[in-house]
Amino acid sequence: MRPSAASLLLLAPLLLLFPSTATAHNITKLLASHPEFSTFNHYLTLTQLADEINRRITITVCAVDNAAMDSLLASRPSISTVKNILSLHVLLDYFGPKKLHQISNGTALAATLFQATGSAPGSSGFVNITDIRGGKVALGPEDNGGSLDAFFVKGVEELPYNISVIQISKILPSAVAAAPTPSPAAMNLTGIMSASGCKVFADTLLAYPDASKTFQESIDGGLTVFCPMDDPFKAFLPRFKNLTAAGKVSLLEFFGVPVYMSMPMLKSNNGVMNTLATDGASKFDFTVQNDGEQLTLKTKSTTAKVTGSIFDEQPLAVYTIDKVLLPNELFKDAPSPTPAPAPAPAADAPKSSKKKKKSKSPPSSDVDADSPSPADGPEADSEDQEAADDNAALSRLAGGKQVVLSLCLGLVMVLL
Ligand SMILES: *[C@@H]1O[C@H](CO)[C@@H](O)[C@H](O)[C@H]1NC(C)=O
Ligand SMILES: *[C@@H]1O[C@H](CO)[C@@H](O)[C@H](O)[C@H]1NC(C)=O
Ligand SMILES: *[C@@H]1O[C@H](CO)[C@@H](O)[C@H](O)[C@H]1NC(C)=O
Ligand SMILES: *[C@@H]1O[C@H](CO)[C@@H](O)[C@H](O)[C@H]1NC(C)=O
Ligand SMILES: *[C@@H]1O[C@H](CO)[C@@H](O)[C@H](O)[C@H]1NC(C)=O
Ligand SMILES: *[C@@H]1O[C@H](CO)[C@@H](O)[C@H](O)[C@H]1NC(C)=O
Repeated sequence: MRPSAASLLLLAPLLLLFPSTATAHNITKLLASHPEFSTFNHYLTLTQLADEINRRITITVCAVDNAAMDSLLASRPSISTVKNILSLHVLLDYFGPKKLHQISNGTALAATLFQATGSAPGSSGFVNITDIRGGKVALGPEDNGGSLDAFFVKGVEELPYNISVIQISKILPSAVAAAPTPSPAAMNLTGIMSASGCKVFADTLLAYPDASKTFQESIDGGLTVFCPMDDPFKAFLPRFKNLTAAGKVSLLEFFGVPVYMSMPMLKSNNGVMNTLATDGASKFDFTVQNDGEQLTLKTKSTTAKVTGSIFDEQPLAVYTIDKVLLPNELFKDAPSPTPAPAPAPAADAPKSSKKKKKSKSPPSSDVDADSPSPADGPEADSEDQEAADDNAALSRLAGGKQVVLSLCLGLVMVLL
């Protein structure tokens, strides 16, 4: 039965309200009924590639059986290397068995998720698919010197034209994807942040070894960091200095979440997040929420936007945020977004009084020695511009969802 235009119109706003849950398929479920791919399936989940696959349409997953996975795992690659290799097995186009055998001109290059994640230099993120004699289909990474030594075995699942799952004879051999990734202990978190617009936060973290040690030691088990960008964090330093020693460490640790979360994972798992500062009843948590296409972090008094992704190599992900998120435990009386009534309580310090205080206090210690006077407090307009720039990167990550949404809207328009 053809759905009426009216029913689609009713659906469209729902999709806009809950874009995070709109996944077209579930690769974990699709593969669950094929035990010969259980290892492959398990690693799609472990690497969070499953979330990425579920959010995209018009894709092809080249699965390998358990024996082929065993030979890949025999050399004990890091999880992040496995992720790079498997992401080369997700083609960003739809290739059912029929299309594979009917490629125009007999050969094609397909972009992969490895290419899309930006970790693949040159042509290393492309897979060459060629129809060869005897009705066979050969595949090989484009950077493999022209040799195509994996073969199409059979179609596994098809949801045309959202996702095709096919079996190939072996793991696609790619020296680039298989290159060892830095071991977690060698990931220099403060170096990564400093290089990408969060130097003030990184320097402050280094000035408090208790906090920086907590971050570094958490990387192994999985860590997601939301680092405030330089302008908002600079503007926040006077209030930071006002905190007790323990408060300062908690404030810094508040920006780390002790789980690795890729962007699709964050977008599809909205809710309350514990942080490195969480300690029993002292929750020090915040809420992750999609606001349309925009990912936000919220506490009672603040909402920060996630403006970009600066590092994503399992087990570490680092994102930038446009504001200093104030934990409820430290800023009980922090300003609410609505105009405050009569005499503001102490910690409510509005922008103007903060400026006055700053000029009175002598230019003191280490961390803010080189910080210019904050233009207009953390809410300064210029930051919105930066945020907008960074959004470009983020919306690339969210591309899959946009396609789904615009397809839905397009369908509604056609029916009207
Ligand atoms: C996908 O399917 C698996 C197994 O059936 C299930 O555990 C998981 O929650 C599903 N994921 C989503 C996003 O629905
Ligand atoms: C196939 O080859 C012809 C002639 O070389 C070329 O013009 C055409 O663009 C090719 N088609 C595809 C899909 O690559
Ligand atoms: C794919 O590889 C084969 C064999 O190396 C080569 O002849 C062909 O030109 C390649 N196809 C494309 C589209 O690059
Ligand atoms: C493809 O995905 C869309 C949502 O993006 C869904 O409505 C449709 O039913 C899916 N098609 C199949 C064959 O699963
Ligand atoms: C981390 O990077 C910073 C800045 O690039 C550098 O100064 C520091 O020495 C590095 N730390 C380690 C442990 O490599
Ligand atoms: C620092 O704390 C004092 C006392 O609670 C308060 O009056 C002052 O406004 C605070 N300064 C800043 C910059 O928050």
